[in-house]
Amino acid sequence: MISEEQIKGLIQAHNDKNEEKFKSIVLKLAEDEAIVDQLAFSQELKNLAESNRKTPTVLLNQIQKSHIITKYEPEDNLSDLIVSTDIHDRIRRLLNEYRNSQKFKAYGRSSRRKILFEGNKGTGKTYTASVIASELNLPLYVVQMDKMVLKYMGETSSKLRNLFNSINTSKGVYLFDELDRFFIIDKNFLTAFLQFIEQDFSNSIIIIITNNKNLIANSSLKTFDDVLYFNMPSQEEIEHIYKSKLSHFQEDFVASSQLIFQSQRLSHSEIVKVCDEIIKETILPGSKLSQARILSLVKEKASLF
Ligand SMILES: Nc1ncnc2c1ncn2[C@@H]1O[C@H](COP(=O)(O)OP(=O)(O)OP(=O)(O)O)[C@@H](O)[C@H]1O
Ligand SMILES: [Mg+2]
Repeated sequence: MISEEQIKGLIQAHNDKNEEKFKSIVLKLAEDEAIVDQLAFSQELKNLAESNRKTPTVLLNQIQKSHIITKYEPEDNLSDLIVSTDIHDRIRRLLNEYRNSQKFKAYGRSSRRKILFEGNKGTGKTYTASVIASELNLPLYVVQMDKMVLKYMGETSSKLRNLFNSINTSKGVYLFDELDRFFIIDKNFLTAFLQFIEQDFSNSIIIIITNNKNLIANSSLKTFDDVLYFNMPSQEEIEHIYKSKLSHFQEDFVASSQLIFQSQRLSHSEIVKVCDEIIKETILPGSKLSQARILSLVKEKASLF
């Protein structure tokens, strides 16, 4: 949003015929609009400023880098997500509550919106965020927090305010992925960020992902409406992944117990990769899927760790 100061600045710059000042205010505006995801408007402002060749490139670079929110429209279904019954039930509860938030409001209650995901690598945490957005027909906004921390060190709270204004005005699923990475960069930022989450009363869903929730103080954990722990796949989940990924390729394919046992060393994501690899290997000779070959791909992957 344009501020009073900026309007005054624009008029003053116009009166003084100070082109440089005029452009720098327009570019600052474009940068702010990019942060709150008014990307089209931001681009328009940039183009207008750019139409004058004297625009300092340094300012333009700054704007390009300031795209800290990326918008996605995922199409993944809940049925594609292979997780424990507990996680499945919690996701269903979240979707159900969100779809009925008006009813909850009528009784002065709010639906679950602020969720923390914790767990092992490759167990489907990021994927789950897209499934939730897709199931609710909401855009998925991925917030690049590390960029934000690095770029705006020192003016943190105004940038966070812009970001949370956007969460309030543009309904969606806001994903703050890999919390651990930016936590290391700036601890004060994390404290300020968690306070903003606590004070958020928007209609958006906020998902925070971390590999280790101990990074968040116990007192801040109560800010979240639910904490989902993503484990390595169980034997049933492993069997399910092979079935869902390979049966469309070969209808009668059933993973052997040895294959399931050995696959326990891999994450969901790695088993999905094994399936992709074996399909590619099998397509060319036009042969049947080989359990032995899948097993060796699994062992190959497991030996990488
Ligand atoms: N539980 C799952 N069910 C179905 N597919 C999965 C699951 N987990 C992972 N995948 C597949 O693996 C890909 C990578 O998983 P994803 O990026 O969600 O893992 P992650 O938990 O976010 O890992 P990291 O901690 O490394 O970020 C997904 O896009 C999906 O194709
Ligand atoms: Mg991830």
